[in-house]
Amino acid sequence: MMWLFVLGGLIASTGSPVSARCQIELSPPKVVVEYGDPFSVNCSSSSDHIEGMGWESPEGGTGFMNGVSSLPLDVDSIALWSINAQCYVTLSDGQQCTERLPVTVYKTPDSVSMPQPSPTGPMVEGQKYRVQCAVAEVAPARHLVVQWHKGDEIFSVDEFNVSSVSPLNVSSVRELTAHRDDSGTRIWCEAMLNFLPAGPQLPPMQSKSHEVIVLLSGEGCSLILKPSRVVVGFGEPVSVSCEAARPVRVLGWESAISASHTQQDLSVQWKVDSLIDWIEEPICYGVFFTAPRQCEEKLNLVLYKTPDSVSIRPVNHTGPMVEGKEYQLLCEVQNIAPVQYLTLRWYREKTEVYNHSFSDLTSSSPVQVSSILLVTPTKAENGAQYRCVAELELGPEGPQPPPTVASEPLNASVYFPPTFLSPEPEVVDLTVGAEISLNCRAAGNPTPVYSWQSPHPTQETMENEAVLTSSSLLPGTYTCTASNALEKKSKQFIVKAKTKGV
Ligand SMILES: *[C@@H]1O[C@H](CO)[C@@H](O)[C@H](O)[C@H]1NC(C)=O
Ligand SMILES: *[C@@H]1O[C@H](CO)[C@@H](O)[C@H](O)[C@H]1NC(C)=O
Ligand SMILES: *[C@@H]1O[C@H](CO)[C@@H](O)[C@H](O)[C@H]1NC(C)=O
Ligand SMILES: *[C@@H]1O[C@H](CO)[C@@H](O)[C@H](O)[C@H]1NC(C)=O
Ligand SMILES: *[C@@H]1O[C@H](CO)[C@@H](O)[C@H](O)[C@H]1NC(C)=O
Ligand SMILES: *[C@@H]1O[C@H](CO)[C@@H](O)[C@H](O)[C@H]1NC(C)=O
Repeated sequence: MMWLFVLGGLIASTGSPVSARCQIELSPPKVVVEYGDPFSVNCSSSSDHIEGMGWESPEGGTGFMNGVSSLPLDVDSIALWSINAQCYVTLSDGQQCTERLPVTVYKTPDSVSMPQPSPTGPMVEGQKYRVQCAVAEVAPARHLVVQWHKGDEIFSVDEFNVSSVSPLNVSSVRELTAHRDDSGTRIWCEAMLNFLPAGPQLPPMQSKSHEVIVLLSGEGCSLILKPSRVVVGFGEPVSVSCEAARPVRVLGWESAISASHTQQDLSVQWKVDSLIDWIEEPICYGVFFTAPRQCEEKLNLVLYKTPDSVSIRPVNHTGPMVEGKEYQLLCEVQNIAPVQYLTLRWYREKTEVYNHSFSDLTSSSPVQVSSILLVTPTKAENGAQYRCVAELELGPEGPQPPPTVASEPLNASVYFPPTFLSPEPEVVDLTVGAEISLNCRAAGNPTPVYSWQSPHPTQETMENEAVLTSSSLLPGTYTCTASNALEKKSKQFIVKAKTKGV
């Protein structure tokens, strides 16, 4: 299509004195032409002193023509997106002047559409949605105007500040808030090339229109989900049916991975063979013949995953613990979901000593969590095993018994000083020639080592045993020392000669 401006009166051309002497007129003074179309422009001069004129142009250029005062530029089919054309005039005194011809080459869009992320299904009242209008292969984009329509209303207009003159894909994006009054209206976008105030009037191109369905949540919905709550292991199949309790025009599932709808049945299934989408929130909606005309029911869906690992270790500490000191044990749980259903239970041997729940967290996708147990071991706990068990309590719809993952046990080694059964001195009667035993045995970790001190320096070297057995001891006070890495403890044995005749 070609558009020639009607020349109104004398040339509006640039007030250059030279041009003014040449008195060049272009008719029409500007061209707006569709790519591939012909156009023609007359260059003329009303000067009396004209020697000749010519058109310089990559298409339809003429060369210098002697003795003419009017010369057309004829282009059969414009095949450039921008064209630099000018008419030049030479006067008899040798002066030359030129007049540039503004040419706008346009192309109407190949298509106008509302692709994703525009909502094609029902929207939930109060939520925000992005709508996009895609205009394919239009030129020049700076003349493009996109109008957004909702029912009878134009709710937004977009223009494009783009310098490129060749065809471009452009898009206009708007954010909508779903409102109940919009339900049932249609939304579409319209693209047109605007060459106003003077230029061709091209018809606008429209995208397909979409019906806006706004779902109201809440009472009187008459949609029943069976089951109403589902608990699914990661990667497992799931199916839920949504049933309408009254005649329905459209019944469907809004879901990122498995949307479906029906216009015939009173029931529609949401079915996934292997659920792995942590953010899936399926919603069943119904569009009814009677009020409330639209409503929705959100599925209570729990996708869970047992932890990859549960491990236990002391914090900032290696080796045995010492009786009476405070230590921290750390339990780490990798990749658990949803963490709000997790309880970490700490066991010493068979006894639960602490539990930690994470119900205040909200993540639906897998996370890593940990728990710290403070312990102050006693010597009785030497050798005890600590364990941490992750339990996912997913409710009655979940697996029974609740899935658990236990850590490897942590063997507690508790150091404690040597401890005698009775630390008081012992009195031992000595019968000459009879063998006696002095028992210095003490509990302790590490196992104590013993040494003995005799009151008789000349006596043979005594062995470093817990129990001293001999038939050759002389009376006196013997001291035994039990020692380990923590402490030395001593105990005395008073060996008395047995008085005859008593
Ligand atoms: C070009 O303009 C001249 C002078 O106005 C006129 O005589 C002539 O007919 C025009 N030619 C065309 C092709 O319009
Ligand atoms: C158009 O874009 C240019 C460069 O990006 C900028 O300088 C100019 O201000 C913009 N004009 C409008 C109307 O936005
Ligand atoms: C416009 O989009 C179409 C389809 O996506 C593509 O084939 C074409 O190359 C794009 N054109 C430009 C100028 O980007
Ligand atoms: C562990 O030790 C590091 C460095 O010694 C210290 O910064 C950190 O606070 C300690 N952690 C605990 C739980 O005591
Ligand atoms: C956690 O421990 C507390 C007491 O320590 C106990 O009352 C509670 O029942 C335990 N919670 C669970 C879920 O076992
Ligand atoms: C922990 O103790 C158990 C039994 O008391 C033993 O079988 C196991 O080997 C010990 N583990 C380590 C790592 O010492």
